[in-house]
Amino acid sequence: MQEKSNYDRRGFLLGSTALAGATAAGTLLPAGPAAAQQGKIKVGFMLPYTGTFAQLGVAITNGFKLAVDERGGKLGGREIEYFTVDDESNPAKAPENVNKLVQRDKVDVVVGTVHSGVAMGMAKVVRESGTLWINPNAGAADVTGPLCAPNIFRTSFSNWQTTYALGKVLKSRGIKTAVFITWKYAAGEEAMGGFKEGFEAEGGKMLKELYLPFPQVEFQALLTEIASIKPDAVACFFAGGGAAKFLKDYQAAGLKGKIPLYGSGFLTDGVLDAVGDAAEGVETTLHYADGLDTKKDKAFRLAYAKTFKLQPDVYAVQGYDAGQLLAAGLDAVKGNVADKPGMIKAMEAAKIDSPRGPWTLSKSHNPVQDMYLRKVVGKENKSMGVAWKALADPARGCKA
Ligand code: BEZ
Repeated sequence: MQEKSNYDRRGFLLGSTALAGATAAGTLLPAGPAAAQQGKIKVGFMLPYTGTFAQLGVAITNGFKLAVDERGGKLGGREIEYFTVDDESNPAKAPENVNKLVQRDKVDVVVGTVHSGVAMGMAKVVRESGTLWINPNAGAADVTGPLCAPNIFRTSFSNWQTTYALGKVLKSRGIKTAVFITWKYAAGEEAMGGFKEGFEAEGGKMLKELYLPFPQVEFQALLTEIASIKPDAVACFFAGGGAAKFLKDYQAAGLKGKIPLYGSGFLTDGVLDAVGDAAEGVETTLHYADGLDTKKDKAFRLAYAKTFKLQPDVYAVQGYDAGQLLAAGLDAVKGNVADKPGMIKAMEAAKIDSPRGPWTLSKSHNPVQDMYLRKVVGKENKSMGVAWKALADPARGCKA
């Protein structure tokens, strides 16, 4: 990938302080044993630990640490030292926050974040510094689209991926019209775009797009509008605390049981304990589900529950896979983080044995993965099978 885009390649080469092996002509020479480094590898978490996405940040952190602990606390033979910044899901503070890790703490790799707007604020900084960045959630299209770069990886999804398969699902239910409701920011708009594309491809008609500012949860006026539009179905993107509130308000407004509710699986992941029966029967699409019944998933769930006294969710899986991806890179270079080209090559080629099922990376460094149809049954997002096999993001604008 780094061979093809002048802009990406130059930004990466010139900016990377760790690229001891880069020659003036731009050839990447792997750093030899003399340059091999000692001591701990510095991992910087930039995640939300407060606000509506706080639980998501904690689950990602837990998942990542579990992957490291399963490898005896070492990756590539070296111990890990963690640095942490609470990004508060605040895009305005993103450049300053990521610089705390990159400039102040001089981390070897940044792991973050959850919020798409924050991720876009991080992208410029890591592209310029050349710091390895593993994004364990934020689905912003730009990050693996126009801003794609050799040092930028994502272990989660693109926002488009999480709703595109819903079109086929709705068609199979005989649904012809829909309204989409979400927060007005990149993740909501892109999830809406993926839904619209998939739904219209199946002959469906979008009647209205409804937005409220992130992270507001005053849904009442929009729910009243939905009741008056009377679509065949409502689809949405909400996550974390906001998703729990939306599910409860949808029920309280008398819409549950009248107009079926669909969404990307963030609507119901990690919130079922908080919403009583408000989510019962809701169908969603996502790259993880309960009851996958694979050896890897069972082992992961057992280990996670034992270590953290919590049930894992999709965010924990994405954090765990971020740890697995970093392990693939560091093992390949025996912990020599100065050999960034070697790490990147190994990470690009990695086949991740994930609790969600095996996945690989696309050229733009985004997972190519199965999307499951899930249905809420009691306290589970029960897998109803694969809604779309090996779905790849279109990566529009990535010159990789
Ligand atoms: C996002 O902003 O990309 C996002 C946040 C929470 C869940 C999923 C996506």
